[in-house]
Amino acid sequence: MRRVFLLIAAVSLSFASNSFVLNSECKKCHETIYKEFMSAQHANSTIFKDKIHAAVWAKHPKNKKMKKYGCAKCHTPAANDIDKLSKKGVAYLPDKNNPTQNDGISCAYCHRIESIKHGKMLNSNIISKEPKKYFGNLQDHIKSPFHKIDTGNKNFKNGNVCIGCHSHKKNKFNLNVCSTNIKNELDKANCVSCHMPKVKGSVSNLRETKTHAFHGFPGLHIHSNMLSKYVDIELLREIDDFWISINNKSSHALTLHPLRVMKLEVSVKRGGKVIKLPSKIFLRALGRDGKPTPPWLATEIIKNTSIKANEKRSIKYNFHLQKGDEVKVVLGYYLVNPKLIKKLGLENDEKAKKFHILKEESFKI
Ligand code: HEC
Ligand code: HEC
Ligand code: HEC
Ligand code: HEC
Ligand code: HEC
Repeated sequence: MRRVFLLIAAVSLSFASNSFVLNSECKKCHETIYKEFMSAQHANSTIFKDKIHAAVWAKHPKNKKMKKYGCAKCHTPAANDIDKLSKKGVAYLPDKNNPTQNDGISCAYCHRIESIKHGKMLNSNIISKEPKKYFGNLQDHIKSPFHKIDTGNKNFKNGNVCIGCHSHKKNKFNLNVCSTNIKNELDKANCVSCHMPKVKGSVSNLRETKTHAFHGFPGLHIHSNMLSKYVDIELLREIDDFWISINNKSSHALTLHPLRVMKLEVSVKRGGKVIKLPSKIFLRALGRDGKPTPPWLATEIIKNTSIKANEKRSIKYNFHLQKGDEVKVVLGYYLVNPKLIKKLGLENDEKAKKFHILKEESFKI
């Protein structure tokens, strides 16, 4: 009797509330979802895998002065030593050899988010105490031999499960450096419906289903082609000039992170020649006294030209179009503002430097 009791105590101890089953465990039965997930930024959000995050962290005062990786709260929330990593006190830095610090925003972490606590500086995720009970939306499901399934969590139903990390983050000057500013009730679309669409392939290996929710989390790093349908490009021709409109059908601004820069390139093909028209930049720049600074020093938004949620932005081109012209419009972005590449030491990071295309359109006049 006593032995049984000890055994149970040992098991529950090893699954303390911030001990999460590793992603590799889920792979056995959720092969398709696992494979998609490994391509997503959520699986690659650590300083060991994300070079851009690592570059900013290298400059951060919490690294230089305090030796505290506070970013863990959102970037490696499944770390078994999260308290030591993120709470004030003795210096303690990330450890590449700790597997729980390499799992990113892990499967088990996200599926244990019970509710969201709203905070002034940032929100927090409340994690369920049961390590092997996972929340989800599959009302019609079989039993899992590995874990319990709970389909009664309203934060999974309305897509709010994302806003513990994605809503806002203020710096010590009370400036919101990272804001999604969501209106989450847009025509029934929410974070999950746009960023986790249903695609072909089975939910698990134990029962064949036709579709499952895509776990590659389309964003600006990867699978951005899956998001281009939420942005429309239109051309309106007038007698002496023309307008290009960008219609943002998503519930947040185009580009969210302050490192990003969006660019609109327009050119006209006439005869055999290509005439490039002036390009247009959209960004949200943080700074102090009107000059750009890193987010941790910023006291104000010095410039905000990013295209807002549900906004249709029209740009005028003083150019007389003729019959037979072909207008090519490219809307793209840089993951890191080209002006900051050198400062961050990212000269050799092709992905950070590249102009990525979100949407292209051609108009024959
Ligand atoms: C409140 C949660 C939260 C905290 C805390 C947090 N981040 Fe982030 N971070 C995010 C989210 C969400 C994104 C994705 C935003 C996006 O893509 O628009 C992100 C993205 C980033 C990116 C862009 C990465 C890329 O590859 O493009 C950098 C850089 C970054 N964070 C740096 C940091 C640093 C450094 C810290 C700690 C000092 C930190 N973050 C703390 C939530 C957080
Ligand atoms: C031994 C096999 C097995 C393992 C290992 C496994 N699962 Fe499952 N899981 C299943 C089965 C079976 C289902 C139900 C699928 C169905 O009904 O078609 C399921 C369903 C789910 C659901 C759906 C819940 C819902 O209602 O939407 C989630 C979430 C989930 N698993 C998460 C995980 C996570 C996270 C891991 C790793 C920590 C994991 N699973 C590991 C077998 C497994
Ligand atoms: C535990 C915190 C956390 C939760 C919960 C979370 N995210 Fe994230 N998310 C992040 C961080 C951190 C990043 C940035 C990772 C990086 O680039 O280093 C990110 C990045 C992203 C990106 C950008 C991907 C890219 O390719 O640029 C998308 C899209 C995204 N998350 C969507 C979601 C959705 C949808 C949900 C809810 C289902 C969600 N996130 C829940 C922390 C979180
Ligand atoms: C950032 C949060 C997040 C992460 C990380 C995450 N999931 Fe999910 N997952 C969700 C949400 C939200 C849903 C519900 C999707 C819906 O309702 O369409 C879901 C649905 C599921 C389902 C049910 C399938 C379906 O079609 O609804 C399974 C199984 C699952 N996840 C397993 C996993 C596994 C395994 C991993 C890691 C490889 C993982 N999840 C990582 C948020 C996440
Ligand atoms: C109607 C569809 C739609 C909805 C709803 C939506 N998004 Fe997006 N999301 C997009 C599109 C389109 C992009 C790509 C363009 C851009 O950067 O905004 C994107 C990009 C992102 C990025 C990458 C931005 C960057 O700068 O790296 C993150 C992170 C993100 N979304 C998170 C979320 C979260 C969290 C929610 C819910 C609160 C959400 N999205 C709701 C369509 C949507």
